[in-house]
Amino acid sequence: MNNLDLGVKIGQLELKNPLITASGTFGFGKEYGQYYDIHSLGAMTTKGITLQPREGNPPPRIVETSAGIINSVGLENPGINAFIREEIPHLQKLKVPVMINISGNKIEDYALLAQKLGKYDIDALEVNVSCPNVKQGGMNFGTQPQSVYEITKTVRENWDKTLIIKLTPNVTNIGEIALAAQEAKADALSLINTVVAMDIDIHRQRAVLGNRIGGLSGPAILPIALAMVYQVAQQVDIPLIGMGGILSGEDALKFLLAGASAVAIGTANFINPLSPLNILEEIEDYMRTNGYQSLREIIGQLK
Ligand SMILES: Cc1cc2nc3c(=O)[nH]c(=O)nc-3n(C[C@H](O)[C@H](O)[C@H](O)COP(=O)(O)O)c2cc1C
Repeated sequence: MNNLDLGVKIGQLELKNPLITASGTFGFGKEYGQYYDIHSLGAMTTKGITLQPREGNPPPRIVETSAGIINSVGLENPGINAFIREEIPHLQKLKVPVMINISGNKIEDYALLAQKLGKYDIDALEVNVSCPNVKQGGMNFGTQPQSVYEITKTVRENWDKTLIIKLTPNVTNIGEIALAAQEAKADALSLINTVVAMDIDIHRQRAVLGNRIGGLSGPAILPIALAMVYQVAQQVDIPLIGMGGILSGEDALKFLLAGASAVAIGTANFINPLSPLNILEEIEDYMRTNGYQSLREIIGQLK
């Protein structure tokens, strides 16, 4: 018998449970279908899409370290037109909410992506602001409250469904960035993206990654992500999707207690494709053991 209420609301979306797959770790939702029915998820997020096709960074692009994985995939993707042609048809048929992750190097890129996707039956946009702003000499959009405000406002003007802004942890004050996104009418925030990182091969005396620098994900970043979710939850009124190193139900529950309404699973998908389902079961066990009927009794309840 399962009479637990795991439903959560993210913008206009009613998710049946808080388990989401993180962008870039779940492809376009096809590959994982051979392991389980992806309709068991609360929602799925697609890998990041840009206006033009991108080849990504030179290899090697992923390195496993003792503290998690560092990737410098560099947003390899087929570009929005091929995405619309080849992926949208199957995504529209899914009975699970789909969040499309978009990235750009100019504010206008984000506006165009939102306009193009607005024509299709897509549930939500997740806007990755961790990209270099080419017009401002490569400074990352996501590190400046003003740029985050402008991107959010521009996308909002071109998209009336659920709008999620995904924040980068590579900033001094994540609270002011979160407030800028809220002020520009984001419906929800995802946090966090990967943490700037590097690995070096001492024998070759070279950086391991082709791009030298990449982004760290996995268990090593969980405590960083948790602190950021907690801090942001104190400052904004919109729902948060917490992510960063979640491998177990216990990890996910920490994010929910800290104030996240939902959680996204990234690197854990590479370790065990069934992770989201296992984590969901562990959350349900915790609820039963502790006499909770609804997930809402847990969200933000850190004492
Ligand atoms: C290989 C890889 C590719 C990623 N690609 C994207 C992306 O395209 N867009 C994005 O917003 N985040 C991307 N991310 C970041 C993840 O969605 C997530 O925010 C991050 O990995 C932290 O969660 P985790 O520790 O559970 O993996 C990527 C992460 C990895 C490991």
